[in-house]
Amino acid sequence: MLVLEGVTKQFGAVRAVDAVSLEFPRGQFVGIIGRSGAGKSTLLRTINRLNTPSAGRILSDGTDVTALRGQALRDWRQRCAMIFQQFNLVGRLDVLTNVLMGRLNQRNMMATLLKLFSREDRMMAIAALEQLDMGDYLSQRAETLSGGQQQRVAICRALVQEPEIILADEPIASLDPRNTGVVMDALARINREYGITVLCNLHDLDIASEYCSRLVGMKAGRVVFDGSPAMLTPEISQQLYDLDAAPAQPSIARGAGGTAAALQPAAA
Ligand SMILES: Nc1ncnc2c1ncn2[C@@H]1O[C@H](COP(=O)(O)OP(=O)(O)OP(=O)(O)O)[C@@H](O)[C@H]1O
Ligand SMILES: [Mg+2]
Repeated sequence: MLVLEGVTKQFGAVRAVDAVSLEFPRGQFVGIIGRSGAGKSTLLRTINRLNTPSAGRILSDGTDVTALRGQALRDWRQRCAMIFQQFNLVGRLDVLTNVLMGRLNQRNMMATLLKLFSREDRMMAIAALEQLDMGDYLSQRAETLSGGQQQRVAICRALVQEPEIILADEPIASLDPRNTGVVMDALARINREYGITVLCNLHDLDIASEYCSRLVGMKAGRVVFDGSPAMLTPEISQQLYDLDAAPAQPSIARGAGGTAAALQPAAA
């Protein structure tokens, strides 16, 4: 279980993440939604500790991640693998080596520098690639792959980290509709088959509703919605994205109280 308690990340005068408290039981597939600048990327980066929170605590199975330093912090980053919109592969290296990068560990710096990967590491990387239908591309340079193929390689690189959590920041934003389906299916599969928690920032509400069992809506750094896709009414979406008010908008308050869905004013 991953628990966020009042997590805040401040950049100068901007509160990118503002007192966010959330609990993520192991194995959930969560979509984080909200307009540009809402704080979605900052939230994921703070969980991974690429950002240090300005206030609040992050607990993973009771361990205070916020307090980790040195090797313990590097171990935490290994346990919550990140996937990015731009894939972040090394284009000139082949697919297998890119995936093996996920096995790099600071503890083994000498072997890392010599790019000595064990047979076990290689078997694991190949198995991951085969599982995501990339087994035919092991020796192909990453830069020659399609976007969807590159993102699957990035997912394999994350998988061989043997993470508890995958933090995916707009993983389909650079992809066409067909590759979008391929990549989201791949994330759904590893969530289902390995029980890895997936937190996924998404712009596309239809995709988020299709794949995620839970949606967290952010606005101005705050969580303003937390519930199932079915609870995300058009009215709530409108408020989340500041779209033109529809006549039904005053009924938004119905979402609050008693259910998992709670839409509060952003400035509350
Ligand atoms: N390193 C930084 N330094 C200063 N301000 C930052 C930094 N990172 C993010 N911000 C600010 O924090 C706010 C939230 O940004 P963030 O990137 O988390 O939003 P987002 O929801 O991911 O948006 P998008 O959908 O466009 O990716 C924005 O106002 C942004 O300008
Ligand atoms: Mg972002």
